[in-house]
Amino acid sequence: MKNNSKIKKIIQMKGQEQLACLTSYTGNVAKIVDKHCDIILVGDSVATAHYGMASTKQINIDTMIMHAKSVVKQSKKSLVVVDMPFGSYLNKKTAFQNAKKIMLTGCDAVKLEGGLKIANIIKHLIKKGIPVLGHIGLLPQHIKSGFHVYGNNEKEKRNLIFDALALERSGVFAIVLECINKNLALQISTMVSVPTIGIGSSVNCDGQVLVIDDILGMSNFKAKFVKKYTNISKQIDKSVKKYCYEVKKKMFPNSKYTY
Ligand code: KIV
Repeated sequence: MKNNSKIKKIIQMKGQEQLACLTSYTGNVAKIVDKHCDIILVGDSVATAHYGMASTKQINIDTMIMHAKSVVKQSKKSLVVVDMPFGSYLNKKTAFQNAKKIMLTGCDAVKLEGGLKIANIIKHLIKKGIPVLGHIGLLPQHIKSGFHVYGNNEKEKRNLIFDALALERSGVFAIVLECINKNLALQISTMVSVPTIGIGSSVNCDGQVLVIDDILGMSNFKAKFVKKYTNISKQIDKSVKKYCYEVKKKMFPNSKYTY
């Protein structure tokens, strides 16, 4: 199994240190994220964050592979996980063929959305030596009725517990909990032996993940769980405005930038 030591380290961090995870879609960004984060996720959120697609369902495997290659090139320390896009893991055979293609980018693991229903597919990938990060709760690839917090009623709570247990049994090294009620997030995190990584699921998880464009103020996505750490859009706007002004006034390029 590739990079077993990186995976082992992530598992061992449970209960010792919170896991910090962010998405990256390009090498330039990954180079910075790699210095600080434990896990870099090449998320299929690239579909909505960078391509203006309406849903993550629209991204294909070839595009995911291009982004994965760019990120892997600039990442040394962090564990790089790549999302398997919608439709790429319908059965054991196609899941393995596609996961193998993704792993050839040099990444460390793949992420699949779903619990009990796809546990047999995940188990198959792991048996074949492909490390898998699980993902339960809100599943953007399967979203039907819009955004809501999962686990607020008994049926959802029971199903999510079954999902988490099925993923643990199948051998995932960690589980993303997306938009799960904070009490249930605590229950699941206590129950399973592998780390849980929350997004909109409270501090009761073993780590956190967010979409980098959201924390940098590069996207229009608004949710209670997103904290904007800066406003890069404003900084880009200021620089572009100044550049255009200087070009129009023939202030750029001056002698400093001229051969
Ligand atoms: O695609 C993605 O960025 C994700 C995270 C939001 C967990 O799956």
